Amino acid sequence: MMTVMNTPSRTILILGGYGTFGSLITEQLAKTDAYITIAGRNTRKGQAFAEQHQVNFLQCDVNQPQDLATAINKQWLVINASGPFQAQDYRIPRACIAAGCNYIDLGDGRDYVAGITTLHAEAVENGVFVCVGASTSPAVTAALVGALCTEVVSQKTIRIAMNAGNKNLAGISTIASILDYVGKPIQVWQQGAWKQDYGWGQPEFVAFPKPVGTRRVQLCDVPDLQLFPAYFDAATVTFKAGVELTLFNFAISILGIMRRWLTRLPLAKLAPLLVRGSQAFKFFGSYAGSCAVWLTDQDDHVHHIALVAPSNGPRIPTAPAILLTQKLLAGEVLPAGAYPCVDFFTLEDLARFLEQFGIYYVNAK
Ligand SMILES: NC(=O)c1ccc[n+]([C@@H]2O[C@H](COP(=O)([O-])OP(=O)(O)OC[C@H]3O[C@@H](n4cnc5c(N)ncnc54)[C@H](OP(=O)(O)O)[C@@H]3O)[C@@H](O)[C@H]2O)c1
Repeated sequence: MMTVMNTPSRTILILGGYGTFGSLITEQLAKTDAYITIAGRNTRKGQAFAEQHQVNFLQCDVNQPQDLATAINKQWLVINASGPFQAQDYRIPRACIAAGCNYIDLGDGRDYVAGITTLHAEAVENGVFVCVGASTSPAVTAALVGALCTEVVSQKTIRIAMNAGNKNLAGISTIASILDYVGKPIQVWQQGAWKQDYGWGQPEFVAFPKPVGTRRVQLCDVPDLQLFPAYFDAATVTFKAGVELTLFNFAISILGIMRRWLTRLPLAKLAPLLVRGSQAFKFFGSYAGSCAVWLTDQDDHVHHIALVAPSNGPRIPTAPAILLTQKLLAGEVLPAGAYPCVDFFTLEDLARFLEQFGIYYVNAK
């Protein structure tokens, strides 16, 4: 097996490095000895953020092939925190592989993440590490499920739910990703077979650990639905998410109902408007959020684990990309190839990193 070599020139490009999650990644990696450049379309915003964190800024629209080629030229690692990933093909990871550059992204597009293995042979040939979905889904959720699997012989049902505190910042690209599948038919693995449901369907109230409490969640079309049935040998896998204010969850549900009738409705374009509108409601709710897993074993015992963020919840989706980059910077050997981000770190690695932000996990047997 070919392995990724650690080169002396640790140049890192962070696409979207001043966005909601990209900015937190930049902030952490600026503390390392790597040479960091952040990139995006808005020079004023990007430059100001770069100066604040003493990194470089490059104006770049990833949809412009020349911009992209210039940006990734001579980089050792590209971290892609732009998006949305549903709409993207593999142009960026492919360009990185061709340039001999490692690549990590926060991709949450189900097919995008699951299909990355089609680039495996190219990545192996060029000796680079390509890892997509280095964020909550599927990386953090796989670490949580994996921690439960060590104590369960075989599992019947995996239920994953997450909910974010209203006072946290909402990123336009993240909201656009959700709006992309709201009301669209999606395939869910239930009792050993694929069944059709709808994005943001199956609403329910779920009890998260304190201080989060009971919150509404709905079905999401994320990589876990595609990857976990086989990876964890499960009969049923669901992934639901929601925001703290039930009003917003209902509002998105209404958009979903409209989409079921008007299938071509370009809902993702509403993302900037919704994010601006949500600012007026920041007075309500809290910063508290959680990402939880319930695993029912063959004897119908329910095993439960949850990450709890009384505040600083947005640190959770940034942790996998930071952990992987720290591993690469430390010279840890990561195998050349193209992978969904499953099993590259343990829950203990994650917990150690998140501890500084007051985020912890609870494990109820
Ligand atoms: N897998 C998961 O569990 C998970 C969890 C959370 C987030 N995510 C994904 O992470 C991504 C980032 O989310 P976010 O909320 O941080 O988004 P955001 O706040 O909207 O930030 C996106 C960043 O990317 C830049 N960008 C957007 N389009 C670009 C383009 N064409 N060329 C260059 N830069 C561009 C933006 O700057 P400019 O607009 O100035 O260019 C901005 O800096 C989203 O795709 C989201 O779905 C995944």
